[in-house]
Amino acid sequence: MDKLLITGGIPLEGEIRISGAKNAALPILAATLLADGPVKVGNIPHLQDITTTMELLGRMGVELVVDERMNIEVDCSTIRELFAPYELVKSMRASILVLGPMLARFGEAVVSLPGGCAIGSRPVNLHIEGLVKMGADVHVEGGYIHAKARRLKATRLVMDLVTVTGTENLMMAATLAEGTTVIENAAREPEVVDLANCLNAMGAKINGAGSNTIAVEGVDGLSGTHYDVLPDRIESGTYLAAAAITGGHVRIKDTQPRMLEAVIEKLREAGARVEVGDRWIDLDMKGCRPRAINIRTSPYPAFPTDMQAQFTTLNVVAEGAATISETVFENRFMHVHELRRMGADIQLEGNTAVTRGVERLTAAPVMATDLRASASLVLAGLVAEGDTVVERIYHIDRGYESIEEKLAKLGARIRRVPA
Ligand code: EPU
Repeated sequence: MDKLLITGGIPLEGEIRISGAKNAALPILAATLLADGPVKVGNIPHLQDITTTMELLGRMGVELVVDERMNIEVDCSTIRELFAPYELVKSMRASILVLGPMLARFGEAVVSLPGGCAIGSRPVNLHIEGLVKMGADVHVEGGYIHAKARRLKATRLVMDLVTVTGTENLMMAATLAEGTTVIENAAREPEVVDLANCLNAMGAKINGAGSNTIAVEGVDGLSGTHYDVLPDRIESGTYLAAAAITGGHVRIKDTQPRMLEAVIEKLREAGARVEVGDRWIDLDMKGCRPRAINIRTSPYPAFPTDMQAQFTTLNVVAEGAATISETVFENRFMHVHELRRMGADIQLEGNTAVTRGVERLTAAPVMATDLRASASLVLAGLVAEGDTVVERIYHIDRGYESIEEKLAKLGARIRRVPA
């Protein structure tokens, strides 16, 4: 397994481009199952999770053509199997996103039930309950969700809690249902809006995406289109945090500052000078050590759980003490134990981490069990004294396109060591 070798101590400087959003590209690729004609999706990031999605669609018999700029053209007219196997779902939970589209378009779907994962139990009960309310016949047998429906029927879905992929799955299913489905307490994440925009470009009639009430008027069919995925706000936030942690000055381009308001506010609170343009963000930490900041994760537009680990690293090297409360997932502090091995002072109390900033971290071999936790360890390596080895970087490759190239472009001493 590849590793990352990082020699810490260099303030990041320079400019990089942000890739397309993983968490928008995944549902949009699943949405192609709904279209009668080929859908071309652009600005797709080059990531392991995208490869897994392509493999999943490919195994169903879907035809995919990728060009050299990572535009993917998907043609579902050749679909043979309405089946998502355990071996793919267990390596990428977002595979559950094919459930709604397959059922709505083909009347049938068999999708492996994802198990628990490194950040929490993550059930999909709300996806299933929503489809049942829309008239689907669903049962779980042998670890698989078996769903059938002649044509889904619109209804009012009041979600018990805010779920991103749950909202996406039900919104996709509703596009072809009979009547107008209303999703209350819907997720408001920009990736949900991007998916709705893509579906509307395919001929769907979705209103209200981005608010907590989404109305989907069912249509008889959707057509092919060309759609470019929005920029990745979590990748954006991760590089901004890296610049702040190292006392650097970085400009990220091809991003959307409006999606990052909660994150930018916290970076300013930490002492960074942040300027934004239409599609760029400039962060200057002026060679200073950040101040510790209190954080509480919540669904969008509040501070994202996907930035919690990176800000934990910021706090452990910052001046002062602070608390970080994780309210979205019950077990998303695996990075804490690894950061402690690098000299961090962190106490865990239930869903809250209390950090007391230290003057310096020291390099150590570390590894993580999920994507964002791995990113937080890379960030720690950028400021630690000595050579940090981050193992199990397949987690990072799931969600960060060319991370070592982008960091190296900003001056970091980082290289991938092949297994
Ligand atoms: N939940 C339920 N029942 C459900 C669905 C969700 O109890 O049926 C709970 C979850 O267990 C969790 C909470 O609801 O405690 C929120 O989970 P959500 O469903 O919103 O998460 P998700 O859709 O599985 C997406 C992102 C995650 C991101 C979360 C929260 C994708 C592909 N994944 O997951 O991204 O952390 O929303 O914003 O969009 C990542 O990129 O590293 C990542 C984990």
